[in-house]
Amino acid sequence: MIITFTTRKGGAGKSTLAVHVLGAIMRELPLAKILAIDTDPQGDFSEFISDRKSNGYSVPVLSHQTTNIKRQSNGYDFVLIDLAGRDSKEAVSILRESDLAIVPVRPSSFDLNSLGYWLGRIEAEKTENLKLQTLVIINAASSNALNKELKETKAALVSINDIAHISNVVIRDRTAYRASIAYSKSVHEWTDSKAKAEISLLLKNIIELVNI
Ligand SMILES: Nc1ncnc2c1ncn2[C@@H]1O[C@H](COP(=O)(O)OP(=O)(O)O)[C@@H](O)[C@H]1O
Ligand SMILES: [Mg+2]
Repeated sequence: MIITFTTRKGGAGKSTLAVHVLGAIMRELPLAKILAIDTDPQGDFSEFISDRKSNGYSVPVLSHQTTNIKRQSNGYDFVLIDLAGRDSKEAVSILRESDLAIVPVRPSSFDLNSLGYWLGRIEAEKTENLKLQTLVIINAASSNALNKELKETKAALVSINDIAHISNVVIRDRTAYRASIAYSKSVHEWTDSKAKAEISLLLKNIIELVNI
């Protein structure tokens, strides 16, 4: 399955989720063959993977591959793509070949403002790619139970969106998501069991959606 992490808003968590989902697949489905693709000039996803090579983990990674994704993905169970946050011909061409677009959104009005446009953009590609599904996931929500942003964001998502799936999984704002990466690790190789549980649920959500 070809899974693309995409949104136009910088800092929403594309690279972070790509890294931790990769880590979850490696731990939970150790036989799965994974290909990583990074089209973001920032190179966060590919850098994480090349840093791990010295730890003995190895996942092939292609940088700047934007065409023939399907052909490249032959023989792989999972292709994880960290897509540059620009609205571009390359983004469109990758969405046309993806099975799932994962769209992280932070619980802030700036993020929500730009979300509708991007969901519409993905939706437009569905006429060319009937398999493409969209999964919106709230990322970096406060873990303070008194914080109202999460509830407000969920309500806003329902009102701006009637096309994409909205994940029941909420990824909280947790230091582990950053701290583990600083050591070239995913939360599946780290000490925060809550973060690990969130990512496991996200992976389950992804597999259920794409296998339908
Ligand atoms: N759930 C989270 N909890 C804590 N920090 C997060 C979380 N998601 C993202 N971050 C941090 O927010 C910043 C932006 O995330 P990043 O994945 O680089 O976004 P993008 O790739 O969409 O631009 C990074 O510093 C990252 O470590
Ligand atoms: Mg990024």
